[in-house]
Amino acid sequence: MREIKIGLLGCGTVGGGVITVLQMNKDIIEQRVGAKLTLAKVLCRPEDMTRPVLKGLNTTFELEDILNDPSIDIVVELIGGTRVAKDFLLRAMDAGKHVVTANKDVIAQFGKEVFDAVERNNIDFLFEAAVGGGIPIIMPLKRCLTANRLTEVLGIVNGTTNYMLTKMAEVGADYDTVLKEAQALGYAEANPASDVEGLDAARKAAILASLAFNSRVQLKDVHVEGITKITTADIDYAKSLGYVVKLLAVGKDTPLGIDVRVHPAFLPKAHPLASVNGVLNAIFVRGNSIGEAMFFGPGAGGVPTASAVISDIIEIARNILNGKPGAVGCTCYGDKPLCPIEEIVTSYYIRLLVDDKPGVLGSIAKIFGDAGVSLKSVVQTAHNKDRAEIVVITHAVKYKAIIDAANRLKELPVVDDVLGMIRVHSEDEAQKND
Ligand code: NDP
Ligand code: HSE
Repeated sequence: MREIKIGLLGCGTVGGGVITVLQMNKDIIEQRVGAKLTLAKVLCRPEDMTRPVLKGLNTTFELEDILNDPSIDIVVELIGGTRVAKDFLLRAMDAGKHVVTANKDVIAQFGKEVFDAVERNNIDFLFEAAVGGGIPIIMPLKRCLTANRLTEVLGIVNGTTNYMLTKMAEVGADYDTVLKEAQALGYAEANPASDVEGLDAARKAAILASLAFNSRVQLKDVHVEGITKITTADIDYAKSLGYVVKLLAVGKDTPLGIDVRVHPAFLPKAHPLASVNGVLNAIFVRGNSIGEAMFFGPGAGGVPTASAVISDIIEIARNILNGKPGAVGCTCYGDKPLCPIEEIVTSYYIRLLVDDKPGVLGSIAKIFGDAGVSLKSVVQTAHNKDRAEIVVITHAVKYKAIIDAANRLKELPVVDDVLGMIRVHSEDEAQKND
């Protein structure tokens, strides 16, 4: 049986998961590939050496030990971030190694540079784990859905924030406690601000939009709002109005260009994504042949993510056995413009803290009217003795109109604060933007 050797960079959550699953499923993986897959060397740091998962493996602290070893065919980069990882990944490619990564940061920021290196070196480069953890979505977009004109990719693509929002909704858990839990479970990024501020989801949104619409979308192109301002009060209002709060990654191909954004949203309880809870992720895709399809599963965690990483390793091993690279390279052949966020049309939930006295509702309604914002529903609840909360759901309006209304509301003497402003996802919205 031929032997195919792997060099692994990083032995943290996902790296450890890859080692575990390669050992756990060694027999079936080798039968499927028709070759022996050997973890030849693991690049780690001196402080990692006590990790039980490394027992019995060849380790090194020098990248060159892997790059200069001609017997190693595939390098798997699981260090993360852009600082060291991008350099290591490009050096591995220039050393002629096939590369697998889970690194959405590098792809969303330096995709062109990476794919130029792929082409220059005539190697395979696969990154199934970069979006949706263990969920197959990159291959489906690159291969299985290519007969379609795709118009929409809508996803819950961050396990940490979905876990947090679910716990806040289900047991009223507080934000800091659930963030700590998500970190302890290995879901969060090294810097969890990436998760809660929406950047991790934005990287994935950029990758999904690039693949779906065949034009390069980068992290800097994504409008990003995280979940840091979401409170249990907003979640409770959502519940009572028939919605759940989710951090959505939205990608749409509109006549004005690619609409790509990440933000919390009120999602109707009947929407297929509304029941995606905990660390689970899902990506909902709309195409003109398949109709609607949803890809669903664990979006983070070492062992589930290893499933996607190892599927890439197996794919490349098969290509090596066939004697030629076989991965689909860069699919960003187009040059679609981006749709300005100001032009995007959605409904909004707005929660205001106001003086509880006659005429307040009228003055608020006038502000909305003057800004061209039509209201769908208004609910008033008592806050304390002389304050009330007003919760408004608007009809679909342009972002610039709602920002205008919010700025005018803040200046109104009877409005103490705009406590919350969250988009409401609806199918009307989808049609208005199409
Ligand atoms: P971890 O931080 O758990 O693991 C990264 C490992 O790389 C750490 O052990 C770190 O060591 C090590 N490392 C850092 N710099 C070097 C270096 N110069 N040489 C050798 N080792 C180094 O991250 P994850 O495993 O969670 O993430 C890895 C990648 O997978 C990231 O790109 C992430 O975005 C992606 N990903 C993660 C998922 C998850 O659920 N965690 C899911 C999907 C994708 P040290 O600990 O000493 O810093
Ligand atoms: N921190 C990421 C998440 C890991 O929570 O989804 C998976 O990419």
